[in-house]
Amino acid sequence: MQPRQVERLVQGVQTADGAGVKLTRVLTQDLQRRLDPFLMLDAFRNDNPDDYIGGFPDHPHRGFETVTYMIAGRMRHRDSAGNEGLLGPGGVQWMTAGSGLIHSELPEQEEGLMEGFQLWLNLPADRKMIKPSYRDIAPDSIPEYTTDGGVLVRVIAGHSHGTAGAVTRPDTEPLFLDIHLPTGAKFSQALPTGHHAFVYTYRGSAQVGGTTVVDRNMGILDDHGDTVELSCAEPTRLLLIAGKPLNEPIAQYGPFVMNTTEQIHQTLQDYRAGKFEAAVVQSL
Ligand code: FE2
Repeated sequence: MQPRQVERLVQGVQTADGAGVKLTRVLTQDLQRRLDPFLMLDAFRNDNPDDYIGGFPDHPHRGFETVTYMIAGRMRHRDSAGNEGLLGPGGVQWMTAGSGLIHSELPEQEEGLMEGFQLWLNLPADRKMIKPSYRDIAPDSIPEYTTDGGVLVRVIAGHSHGTAGAVTRPDTEPLFLDIHLPTGAKFSQALPTGHHAFVYTYRGSAQVGGTTVVDRNMGILDDHGDTVELSCAEPTRLLLIAGKPLNEPIAQYGPFVMNTTEQIHQTLQDYRAGKFEAAVVQSL
């Protein structure tokens, strides 16, 4: 086994999206090729309601999947097909925008901490226009295990030490783990060589290979090894995310991610023609 090393540390960009929700864009557009098939990672951790209360009112998506993972707080989502769901601490919403939908994501609280992540996972060219769907995954439906060393691993997608995650995807084989390490713990995870991978620390400070990745930092891993080794000197929580690159052209215009400019133009035409409002969105 050859352990991967951190090739670059990224702090992300402070920004606001939706109706004034303050967040950190950790995976920005300039990293889309480097971290293909992942297009974006937003991290939000706000305890001032002014920084989250506006939420994300109605907006469209096409051509990829959004994965929302809540740590604290509650968010209600609704879509153009009339579906509705409440996302709470430890829960995941996995939404396949596919050919397009309109949805909103709004806080279901007026005070307290709102913390979580939204990851965008690309779809391969031949699946960008599939029928939209979503899955609300309750906290107790996310497989998890604890190692002998006391490390808790929540397997949102992919496989970890024989535990199959809540979601699998054959095209990009995404791995999405939430790992909680007690002081002094060690953990290793197999990663196929060539899959793009990164960690994001959201509590404490992790030792990743020979590099320290502190709170609210992303460590992009090199592509060469087949495992990643984690340890820590204080209680630490981090996301470990990896996937098989699609190696296809990426054309993004805001909430639309296609392969060509022509497809983006078509998307804007379809959106203006009201086709997204008429979308049938399946609950899986
Ligand atoms: Fe959205």
